[in-house]
Amino acid sequence: MTQTRTVIVLAAGEGKRMKSALPKVLHPLLGRTLLGHVLAAAAPLRPDRTLVVVGHGADQVTAHLAEIAPEATPVVQPQQRGTGNAVRVALDAVPEVDGTVVVLNGDVPLLRPETVAALVETHESSGAAATVLTAEVANPTGLGRIVRTPDGMLERIVEERDASPEERQIREINAGIYAFDAAQLRAMLGKLTTDNDQGEEYLTDVFGLLVADGQTIAAHPAADPTETLGCNDRVELAGLRRRLRDRINERWMRAGVTITDPETTWIDVTVTLAQDVVIDPNTQLKGATTVAEGATIGPDTTLIDTAVGEKATVLRSHVVGAEIGPEATIGPYAYLRPGTRLARQVKIGTFVETKNAEIGTGTKVPHLSYVGDATIGEHTNIGAATVFVNYDGVHKHRTVIGSYARTGADNMFVAPVTIGDGAYTAAGSVIVKDVPPGALGVARGQQRNIEGWVARRRPGTDSAAAAERALRAADARAAESASDTEAAQSEPMHDETGRPNDRLVARDTHIA
Ligand code: UD1
Ligand code: CA
Repeated sequence: MTQTRTVIVLAAGEGKRMKSALPKVLHPLLGRTLLGHVLAAAAPLRPDRTLVVVGHGADQVTAHLAEIAPEATPVVQPQQRGTGNAVRVALDAVPEVDGTVVVLNGDVPLLRPETVAALVETHESSGAAATVLTAEVANPTGLGRIVRTPDGMLERIVEERDASPEERQIREINAGIYAFDAAQLRAMLGKLTTDNDQGEEYLTDVFGLLVADGQTIAAHPAADPTETLGCNDRVELAGLRRRLRDRINERWMRAGVTITDPETTWIDVTVTLAQDVVIDPNTQLKGATTVAEGATIGPDTTLIDTAVGEKATVLRSHVVGAEIGPEATIGPYAYLRPGTRLARQVKIGTFVETKNAEIGTGTKVPHLSYVGDATIGEHTNIGAATVFVNYDGVHKHRTVIGSYARTGADNMFVAPVTIGDGAYTAAGSVIVKDVPPGALGVARGQQRNIEGWVARRRPGTDSAAAAERALRAADARAAESASDTEAAQSEPMHDETGRPNDRLVARDTHIA
């Protein structure tokens, strides 16, 4: 019979001290839930079967499992009668297993895959009936202690609340990660009692029972004790987050990434960075984000599920589900939303929001604009303060703008609408009809100036006085230059109300 490996993750507990509606193991920590981290640490074992014991918030945990680890089987533990009971319930739910059973607490997210692998390797090569991962810690409060015989052999594991004062002095603790021989485990689970301070079936009692039965048990000390830290409340969660942040940042710095301020840089475990990426302070990189060589991100930037191309820069911006092309420049203060796809050397400037927008090479949207549901060609310039009016209150519509177009400032593109290659639009236009290639689209009222309006309708105001001064000065200059010319008129350009001298003005009227 071939030896198999079964992984059991214990995740039925409530995590009371988290004081949360969310089950403890579903709390997020830099890109994965606590449970997700534990499953990731066990995944390289290539288990034949992964069982996750669920209880508190079972529906939520089961739904999460379906998403992140569909190969894992949730097993409901109806009542949380202890870690031993949890393992028993898990094994009862499946056909008899042989080989090695690896049990992991669901709240030990810093655990490295190498550490789990080393524990299993020690266990399988030593032929022990059970092997426990241990750690020497400065403060063992609340944890199970490793009791050894005078000659250093593992004797049993005792919970703090059941321990003698001497045992409480022990600083070697049970990390809550174990490897068992399946048959031995099953035999001892049946013998567990609830004869302890909590009235629970303790998985840890399996070790003492095995010794009494004459079996060999072993302890495997963790190389890095911080990996075994559990999470019981949100203060501990924050501590774990800082440690994981440091570990992730250190890894990227050693791989050739510059992180200007590692303490304010938070990178999910799921993110990928290339060499010579620079990350400036206060930056969060989340989810499936990838950043290519030589790109600069930050300061004050959040990227979620975003791909950034080589040598692009993203400055003080918030980006979700976007593709940013090589050498593109984003921000400061841009908001790129899902479906944004920017080609090479695109510029998205200050206070610009994009969504479902495909923008071609070298095109610029420099200022104060909303680009939603749009396709824009190459080397086009979108004027400041442009709005792609994509929503009619019921449906979303698309705007298509060609290449080498120059659209004026303060345009509204009322979708669906198409602007051809090389077309222009006039500033302030509300574009509701297609503009053919090379045409100028103008859609705005003609300006007319009502001369003298302020003097007549706002007499005595500062504005009227300022206007009068300006007009007199203009008249004086006109008179001066007129006296230089023979054909000059000596009559003033304006009358005393500021109304223009019609005869003179007619001559200057300019119609485009
Ligand atoms: C357990 C160990 C302790 C060890 C510590 C490491 C026991 C008896 N004690 O203590 O020696 O130092 O972990 O963190 O095992 N769970 C279930 N069903 C239950 C009870 C618990 O699924 O009925 C799950 C919890 O969700 C949790 C894990 O098992 O993920 C550990 O349970 P917890 O109550 O936190 O055990 P500790 O008291 O911390
Ligand atoms: Ca615990």
